[in-house]
Amino acid sequence: SGATGRGLDLAGRHVVVSAGGTREYLDPVRFLGNRSSGLQGYALARTAQARGAEVTLVAANVALPDPAGVKVVRVETTAELHSEMVAAAAGADAVVMAAAPADFRPTGVSAAKIKKADDGSSPSIELVQNADILHELAHHRSRPDSVVVGFAAETGDDSGSVRELAAAKLARKGCDLLVVNDVSGGAVFGSPDNEAVILASDGTATDVPRGSKTAVAHAIWDQVVRRFGA
Ligand code: CTP
Ligand code: CA
Repeated sequence: SGATGRGLDLAGRHVVVSAGGTREYLDPVRFLGNRSSGLQGYALARTAQARGAEVTLVAANVALPDPAGVKVVRVETTAELHSEMVAAAAGADAVVMAAAPADFRPTGVSAAKIKKADDGSSPSIELVQNADILHELAHHRSRPDSVVVGFAAETGDDSGSVRELAAAKLARKGCDLLVVNDVSGGAVFGSPDNEAVILASDGTATDVPRGSKTAVAHAIWDQVVRRFGA
């Protein structure tokens, strides 16, 4: 932490970070998933630990080694991520939802492997919406003074620019900070680099220049630390 110049500014704090992407099973061998690598969440866990925090990392389906000195809880589905985040967030100073939970899951999970039909017909998959974990963590805080952070990858569309959509998402989720990635130029998935704008509920926006996910993680904790002081 000496190299970053931030010292141990998270000493005495308990922070909870989610990382990776959830899987929603169709049957014992198949799932719906997404491309989240978990790199940004792991960088957040490592940097918080380096800055003195007690860190719980709830990791969904990542192919990354456990960071030293971090408590790692592994999950697969959004339902598991939901219950582990609610449990870990109890009493925490800060919660960061860097994971990509699946928005939908199959209505039912087949206990047996789904087989092809003899007549060549294809099955359809009926989906039901998953709980919004960030919305719940922000709206039902175990401590009113905790800092809740979300992420959003946006492209902008007919209904608004990246910034407009992100500002609306920040308000809807009820979080204190929203880390916004503009992904219209191509995906950031699996990349060691990232670039972001951190929107705050007080209306401020902080640009984080293109850099390593470690550098972006430090910039996020800087904003969290400012909120602790407020
Ligand atoms: N998130 C969550 N629970 C969900 C979906 C998303 O906690 N079921 C969190 C993500 O971890 C992220 C933030 O909400 O921190 C924003 O995710 P995003 O997918 O952008 O938001 P959604 O509400 O799912 O909106 P969209 O329709 O744009 O996907
Ligand atoms: Ca989503």
